Amino acid sequence: MSKDFSTMEDSNPSANTSIHEVSDPTRRVVLRGGLGALMGAMGAAGWGLGGCASLADMGSSSGAGALLGFKSVPVATVDAVSVPPGYVTQALAAWGEPVGLSGEMPAFRFDASNSAAEQQAQMGMHHDGIHYFPIDGSSTHGLLVMNHEYTDDGLLHPDGMKTWTAAKVKKSQAAHGISVIEIEWLDQRWQHVQPSPWARRITAESPITLSGPAAGHALMKTAADASGTRVRGTLNNCASGLTPWGTYLSCEENFSNYFNCTTPPDAHGKRWGLKKVDAALYRWHEFDERFDASRHPNEPNRFGWVVEIDPFNPSSTPIKRTALGRAAHEGAMVAVTRDNHAVIYMGEDARFEYIYKFVSRDPIQPGGARANATLLDHGTLFVARFDTDGKGAWLPLVHGQGPLTPANGFADQGEVLIKTRQASDLLGGTKMDRPEWTAVDPKTRKVYCTLTNNSQRGADKFPGVDAANPRVNNTMGHIIEWLDDGDFDGIRLTWQHFVLAGNAASSRPNARGNVKGNAFGCPDGLWIDGRGVLWIETDMSTKDMGQGDLAELGHNALLAADPSTGEIRRFLVGPAGCEITGATGTPDGCTMFINIQHPGESPSERSDPDAPRKISNWPDQRPDGRPRSATLVIRKADGGMIGT
Ligand code: FEO
Ligand code: CA
Ligand code: CA
Ligand code: CA
Repeated sequence: MSKDFSTMEDSNPSANTSIHEVSDPTRRVVLRGGLGALMGAMGAAGWGLGGCASLADMGSSSGAGALLGFKSVPVATVDAVSVPPGYVTQALAAWGEPVGLSGEMPAFRFDASNSAAEQQAQMGMHHDGIHYFPIDGSSTHGLLVMNHEYTDDGLLHPDGMKTWTAAKVKKSQAAHGISVIEIEWLDQRWQHVQPSPWARRITAESPITLSGPAAGHALMKTAADASGTRVRGTLNNCASGLTPWGTYLSCEENFSNYFNCTTPPDAHGKRWGLKKVDAALYRWHEFDERFDASRHPNEPNRFGWVVEIDPFNPSSTPIKRTALGRAAHEGAMVAVTRDNHAVIYMGEDARFEYIYKFVSRDPIQPGGARANATLLDHGTLFVARFDTDGKGAWLPLVHGQGPLTPANGFADQGEVLIKTRQASDLLGGTKMDRPEWTAVDPKTRKVYCTLTNNSQRGADKFPGVDAANPRVNNTMGHIIEWLDDGDFDGIRLTWQHFVLAGNAASSRPNARGNVKGNAFGCPDGLWIDGRGVLWIETDMSTKDMGQGDLAELGHNALLAADPSTGEIRRFLVGPAGCEITGATGTPDGCTMFINIQHPGESPSERSDPDAPRKISNWPDQRPDGRPRSATLVIRKADGGMIGT
């Protein structure tokens, strides 16, 4: 989300500066694409090597030549998607479309009158992180797995939030979480296959297991779960990640907004943004008391984790991996060291929070998800410190080391992980301008992270600028890049800014000279495709869009950057009131999928049910309809590779 929901949280004002075969024998489905096919879906080796031969009837192109081969699109403020000449788009799997559960295919009702039970079998609201998982290595048949970050309850119910009921809470919970859908290229279109044996919804009510050092911890136990290992649901699933062993990582972001305190929270709760909310954003606590954090003080500790899901095993229970730390997690991007250990880069999107990485203790094993079922339960979490000399360090969050001792409130490693923010404060991690997505370039081994904005940088009672976050009142955001010393698991790093975002007046020289190409603000999503293009997605909030520094930037956009030259070119502009998020593609590089999130969002971020279609009615444009988040398919009309 754009999210004043996220930016309302100012909890840190203190002053320290060959993929293995993945198979499901019961369905006789085998991912035979191997490392190339699966890493290709996340934009690593293998993407584009085969061109678009399977689409030869459309006339494929080779993808050779300059990295950015398209004509940039101008800034736009229309309620439609703009793409360069020669490109076509298609909306797919909008909110409310039946997800494809066998025997449960409730049609979407355009007045939003579907029940909670129907919503449970439909696409959730507000699509975010997404990945394409090829079936049998295919670029024309696969699974899309995607997050549904949050609900706009003004749109979700026929009369919005004018009345508030238990049924509305249940529907909101059912519209959260994750969807798994099957898609196939048929009749010159991508089609959502319904029903499908893989179709799945995971919601804020689904059973989820806790694993790793914080599982079973005293701080995780609740009245409903004395074991501290079984959680109901996942929520605010923002960005995502793909593991080389074929699973999907879904990240719980602004969980504190779902809880209400009737009495003031303790120091721990306060550090995590818990508070008494007069007009609680989601109002779940009014009918589901586990979201009353005063009555159930440990329930919030069970959120803010990275959740691992095996999309090819629909009966598997998702797992919250506590070894990766607790945060308002934006995303989790996986890199693989030369000796085959997994390194996961993660941003925490809140003002003055941190950038993290997790290094697995053990190497990745052949044999897919089953063989790596506990890989993410053992390893070391680090927080980043960016120094003034362009160098930096990864500081380990290990119990008993440095200040992470019982005397400072950390009884054990579980407590370090549940209190990741407090641990990072003591270690002296660098307080960043809202770290969102990270991206790993497997060729150069550089890592990129968006710092979307921070209007409080340098304000009264908040930290001032530092080398890595160099602008007071950073309305435009920036992108930082670094190279870990030696390998992805190195504990020293070298960093620079890739770009300080902005318009002509506010942009400053980046590390490679002057900013070249098109202006943009508030970078959020990032993805490096198989050709090496760095895709940048923007999330200017609807409150700020068209105002101040963002005045001439139009709607949110998707831009393509050439990391070797620094050139940034606008590729796509979205409909009114939307955010552009989530990016993935087929192994052949000929189809890209992004998510159009919250078209029609009002500046208040809670829509009046009668008003949103005055802002946007995308994608249906029906007089009786409502704007709907949806996946957007992008292709070249000639079937060639995206970006050429
Ligand atoms: Fe969910 Fe920080 O975007
Ligand atoms: Ca948003
Ligand atoms: Ca954002
Ligand atoms: Ca985001």
